[in-house]
Amino acid sequence: MSPTKRTLAEISWDELQWLSPLEKAELFNLGERPFHVLMAQQFSRPMLEELGELATRIRQIAKSKAGMDFLRGLLTHRTAMLYFSQPSTRTFLSFHSACQILGMKTVEVRDTATSSELKGETQEDSIRTFSSFAEVIIMRSAIGGLAEKMAWVLSNTERPVPIVSAGSGKDQHPTQALLDIYTLQRSFETRGGIDGKTIVFVGDLARGRTVRSLAFLLTRYQGVKQYFIAPPQLQIGEDILALLRQAHCAFEVGHDFKKVIPAADAIYMTRIQDEWDEQAGQSGKIDISRFSFTAAHLAKLPSKAVIMHPLPRRQEIAVEVDEDTRAVYWRQVRNGMWVRVALLVAIFDGADDIRRYDGA
Ligand code: NCD
Repeated sequence: MSPTKRTLAEISWDELQWLSPLEKAELFNLGERPFHVLMAQQFSRPMLEELGELATRIRQIAKSKAGMDFLRGLLTHRTAMLYFSQPSTRTFLSFHSACQILGMKTVEVRDTATSSELKGETQEDSIRTFSSFAEVIIMRSAIGGLAEKMAWVLSNTERPVPIVSAGSGKDQHPTQALLDIYTLQRSFETRGGIDGKTIVFVGDLARGRTVRSLAFLLTRYQGVKQYFIAPPQLQIGEDILALLRQAHCAFEVGHDFKKVIPAADAIYMTRIQDEWDEQAGQSGKIDISRFSFTAAHLAKLPSKAVIMHPLPRRQEIAVEVDEDTRAVYWRQVRNGMWVRVALLVAIFDGADDIRRYDGA
């Protein structure tokens, strides 16, 4: 680290707000290793590649009992706090399973109605309390930027433990983007990788935090073309498009889904995020009928393309599509667990232990 480079603890909260996403991202890593995991911008191409290799190595090791026993011994001295104040099925379960695979203990708060926040305790005091019981805090919140704020708060305490965002408001979902990249890496393994591929995002791109994180991560690859297909009211934010322009990445914004299907290497479907509606029933007034993937679309999709979805789905992918070999959304769920194991290993500097394991 250069002598002029400051750490998170040396920056005021106001100053932090004025930094660009890329400047902020540097403060959350320890060199080329993630410490906090708060935004997609923290991950360079080499970091994405290393994480993917680590996840693949871990899943190979996990195939045998001896390998599982080895993994279970790695982080027995660490406890993870799972603080999920927003609904979650897959992200919670995959982090929980990842902790178990590594032998970590877990403690959890899933409902602030059962914690002292109900008695008026501030989130800052809650997080300081959590940090007393854990070596990492994995948190999901409806408040965008809260995880970042908590990382900053802890950086000035005697227990500056890492914070991993498991979904931050409408803004970012960095670990979902990591598992999506891993799924794309594996899907295009024999086709030259992610470079040069065309990725089509469909649905609620305005409020879909997984899309916002993944669209940025795709700028780490050469020659990727991104299509954002949505009704005008649900189109991707200008801030993400600005990041794409800055990275000289090709993209198109449109609403003709049928037209782009034949050009796709991956189609990333999303549900309408109506929990964010400012007025009840507001999303229901938007015509989303042309933004679903039906069995009839399969014939138009290239034979090697993949269909993805962060899940949960509603009607935007017909159930009949599940049987098609190009549907990889159930594989994404499993990949998410392995990527989160790899991420925890990276945070706790255990990648070399995994590489050195020679029993598998
Ligand atoms: C996503 C989320 O929470 O943002 N779910 C997930 O973590 N896989 C997507 C969604 O809820 O639509």
